Amino acid sequence: MKVATEKYDVQSEGWSTRAYADSASYLAHRAAMVLQIGPELREGDTLLDLACGDGGIADFFPQWLTYTGVDASEPMVAAARAADHHVVHGDLNEYVPPEPVAATTCFRAVYYARDRRAFFALARSYTERKLVFDLNPRQFRLDDVAADLRGAGFEHLELRPFFVPQRIRLPGPLAAGLRALEGTGPLARLLLRFRFTYVFAAS
Ligand SMILES: C[S@@+](CC[C@H](N)C(=O)[O-])C[C@H]1O[C@@H](n2cnc3c(N)ncnc32)[C@H](O)[C@@H]1O
Repeated sequence: MKVATEKYDVQSEGWSTRAYADSASYLAHRAAMVLQIGPELREGDTLLDLACGDGGIADFFPQWLTYTGVDASEPMVAAARAADHHVVHGDLNEYVPPEPVAATTCFRAVYYARDRRAFFALARSYTERKLVFDLNPRQFRLDDVAADLRGAGFEHLELRPFFVPQRIRLPGPLAAGLRALEGTGPLARLLLRFRFTYVFAAS
């Protein structure tokens, strides 16, 4: 099935730098969270980044992790390749990597799954250690997502707040203070009622 990507095709040039006010801080924190949340990744592991856009996050992973991106937008794939990232053209609803991967990520795109539980089951079939993705809790009920993950066979779920703003560049101390709130439990959950997202790790 052809995926409608026109909206992203026209934004492919400089996607990562234009989609995030402070793309280095945003993507570095996202990459760090992928490493920290859920089961550990080790030297030599492979990571598959579904709906990767221009693959900008690849610059923030350690060199020992082998990165492959997948995106349904041809111009995004071309932009990623121009930046020397290994990215293939594909639809997250159907794509299966040639070999199993240690980790699969999917950021700002889980809602492109036509059938969320079927997508989780497909990702589980080729993901050896963890599936990591983000979710806006004001758009989706966490319990429904957790039920779909369990229905797809994932047994362990971990959830962490992600407090780096997309569209505002904060001064360093303020950004650090906001990130420190991620671990504050009730205060973090209060903030999530109004802004920001959760990162899930399913294993
Ligand atoms: C909001 S962007 C997110 C890009 C990147 N993950 C990020 O967080 O910056 C959504 C991306 O999903 C891609 N996309 C949309 N539907 C897709 C699908 N069915 N399979 C793979 N990629 C898809 C778009 O081309 C676009 O690059």
